[in-house]
Formats: sequence, C-alpha cells, structure tokens
Amino acid sequence: MVDVILGLQWGDEGKGKIVDFFAKNYDVIARFQGGPNAGHTLYVNDKKIVLHQIPSGIFHEEKTNLIGNGVVLDPVILRKECDAVAAMGVDYKKNLYISERTHLILPTHRALDKASELSKGNDKIGSTLKGIGPAYMDKTGRNGLRVGDLLDKNFTTQYIKLRMKHQRLLDNFNFQEDIGQWEEEFFDALEFLKEFKIVNGEYFINEKIAKGQRVLAEGAQGSMLDVDFGTFPFVTSSSTISAGVCSGLGIAPQKIKEVIGITKAYCTRVGSGPFPTELLDETGDFLRKAGNEFGSTTGRPRRCGWIDLVALRFACMINGVTQIVMTKADILDGLEELKVCNSYRINGEERNDVPFQMNRLNIEPIYKSFQGWHTDISNVSNHDNMPEKMKMYVNHMNEFLQVPVKYISNGPGREQIVTL
Ligand code: GDP
Ligand code: IMO
Ligand code: MG
Repeated sequence: MVDVILGLQWGDEGKGKIVDFFAKNYDVIARFQGGPNAGHTLYVNDKKIVLHQIPSGIFHEEKTNLIGNGVVLDPVILRKECDAVAAMGVDYKKNLYISERTHLILPTHRALDKASELSKGNDKIGSTLKGIGPAYMDKTGRNGLRVGDLLDKNFTTQYIKLRMKHQRLLDNFNFQEDIGQWEEEFFDALEFLKEFKIVNGEYFINEKIAKGQRVLAEGAQGSMLDVDFGTFPFVTSSSTISAGVCSGLGIAPQKIKEVIGITKAYCTRVGSGPFPTELLDETGDFLRKAGNEFGSTTGRPRRCGWIDLVALRFACMINGVTQIVMTKADILDGLEELKVCNSYRINGEERNDVPFQMNRLNIEPIYKSFQGWHTDISNVSNHDNMPEKMKMYVNHMNEFLQVPVKYISNGPGREQIVTL
C-alpha cells in the first residue's frame, strides 16, 4: 500500500515537515521526482535542516529511505547532505537506498542550465540552476547516465562522450565557464556514491509492498510546477503530480491509496511565471516577513499572495487528492482580513478553470473576504479549540474543493500539527 504526499501549489508548501511528521506510520519513504532544486525544511530536536534529495524520513532510524528512479541526482550535493545528516547523528548508510535507474546530474548539466537561462533574458524561468532541466532532457533524449552505470567499466568513456556533446551545446550558447573544479568534486562524489546501497528500485519497493509494508511517496516542487499541467514554460522538468509516483518509483496505480495534498494557508511562488493572486503590496510584504518566505535552496525572496482555490481545485483534480494538509496557518494570525480567490475574471468573463497559458492572459482574481481570527493559534491542538473564524475559513475550503482539510500545521516544529 502506497500513500503520497505532494505539493498542490508552486512548491515550498511544507512537504518536508509533513513527511517527517507522518513518516512514523510508514516503513519506506521514497522520493519519486525532482532533484536538488527541492529544499525541504525539517526541525529535528529544534535544529533546522534542509534536505534536497534525501527523503524526509531519514531522521526516523528504523525507516527505509529510497531515492527513486524518477529523481535526477547530483552526487556532490548528496554528499553534502549526507554530511549534514551525519552531523545530526544519522547513520544514513544504514537506511538510504538509491535506484540504479536514477539519472545523474553532471557538472555540464549545471553549466547548460545557466547558459539556457542567460540566453532567455527577461523570459528566464527563474530556475534554481541545479541542472534539472538539462538532466531530464538527457533522460528523455536517451543520452543520460544513471547511477547503475557507475558500476560499468565504460562509465568514463560514456561520460566523456556526453561531456563533449554538452560542450558543443555550450559553445553554441557562447557560454564559457571553467568546470574543472566541479568535475573534480563530481568524480570524488561518484566514489562516495558507489558505497551506497544501489538497488533495483522497482523490485525493491514492490517486494516490500507485497510483504504488507507501507510506503510513503514524497513529492518535490508542486502541482503548478508540473511539466505538463503547470504554468508552462515556467515549470520544472518533472511530473510532480501523483501520476509521477508510478513512473518515478515503478509502482502500479492501484497500489496508491491516499493522496495527501499540501497547501499553505496562503500562496507563494519563487521564480518567474504567472501568479494570479500575487500581492505586490504591504500584505504581500507582511506574508513574506511573517512566513520567512525566502527560498530554502536559493535564498531568493518568495512572491506571496492569497490562497487560490481555482488553482487548488485543479490540483486536487489532476492528483486525485483524498485529503488536504493546510500549513502555515499561524502566519495568518496577524491579519484582520483574509481573502480567498474563488474564480478568475478573464476578458470580462468569470471563469472557474485554470486556463491554457495563464501568462498570456490578464487574470483578475475574484475574492471572497473572511475576517481573520487574529489570535495566536500556536497552541491550538484540536478542532474544538480552533477559533470560530478559522473554522469558517477551513469550512469554505472543504466545501469549495470537495476534499477535506484533515490537518492544519500551526508552526514549523515537528509536532505542531492539528488533526481535524
Ligand atoms: P517544502 O519545500 O514543501 O518542504 O517547504 P520548504 O521547507 O521549502 O518551506 C516551508 C517553510 O515553512 C520551512 O521553512 C518550514 O520550516 C516552514 N513551515 C512548515 N510548516 C509551517 C507552519 O505550519 N508554520 C510555520 N510558521 N512555518 C512552517
Ligand atoms: P520544493 O520541493 C519552489 C521552481 C524554480 C523555477 C522553476 C524551475 O522545495 O517545493 P528548476 O530548478 O526546476 O529548473 O526551476 O521551478 N522550483 C521550485 N520552487 N520549490 C521547489 O522545490 C522548487 N523547485 C523548482 O524557482 O521557478
Ligand atoms: Mg522547498
């Protein structure tokens, strides 16, 4: 049996914290897509840690963690992450497994990412520049190198061939960067990678499922950044939605039970692209400040705005969301009035759907206003002691989305979560 936790907005919904919270109920925690563009923040013993590729179950000693075939893996960053978790007392060698089909991010992928973004000028995606797009291009273009290839004697020859191809592309971009240092680190990190438990991920996970073990699939990014259904081209390069679990881990769709969608109580986006409910005023500044909305991976300020129920309903539809976790509700404590986007006005017409090419349209959000609860909710522990005004906000979401909000996160701490 497999449950999924994924983001319903433009990423950074608090997936890391929620996966860490739920991990105790599972045997295996598996990342199914994305790479080090992700930054998942956890607080363990009051100490903050940001994970990029390691699944957020790593702090649960007895749990198995798997980096699935759908991930693109940067071994240099993995090594740094491993050092960071080891410093917190985790024996990652014991319970971290990597699929042999996982594609590698090469130093030239990072250079290509940079070159591509530079060439776009004002139309840039706002990529994290971790080489994600170029690595997935080599996967679908059937050129990439995989973790399992490391054990092959032809690895270096294949690497040199691919690097030469990349160099030609970089020359076309007229992009020059000395990647000598990166390459040195990369080859060092490959030796480190070889010491891992490199497994056939699909048999590994299906055998566990057959034995009755419980798997939690951890998504990265968010549904509105999905390569097919997000705000293309301002998206990432992987399938961030529940369908990505099947191809990213080798799991059949019938095995998936709960699809747990995470949304903030408001909305953020980092990088370029459409964001209908963005607030460019002092309320936006308030959310950024109170919510400490700065990228976990790049440190960039996140764009902030009201919750967008049109986009959320779309995300619930394409993912088959069965329950919702609303995070960062405590950030709204300081606001007297809250707004919720129920529909869009486009060319004078009211619409309830997410249109094709949002970026070419002038979308005006139509809001419903709510009175803020305007009290400290950090000590709320159940539905009964939730402020009435907060119940109204949540009830509206339940009715609008037709998917229940089952949990509310009211602080970054590991156990700060209200079960409804
Ligand atoms: P992820 O990428 O979805 O895992 O999210 P990030 O870690 O990038 O960003 C979420 C940020 O919000 C992190 O700094 C978390 O520590 C923090 N966070 C998560 N849930 C809550 C919450 O309920 N309240 C507050 N105040 N912070 C939260
Ligand atoms: P987590 O897992 C928020 C955004 C980038 C950029 C676009 C493409 O922490 O939620 P890429 O590096 O994939 O080429 O960037 O996607 N992006 C994220 N935004 N959270 C993330 O991950 C993101 N990963 C990528 O800012 O707009
Ligand atoms: Mg993040």
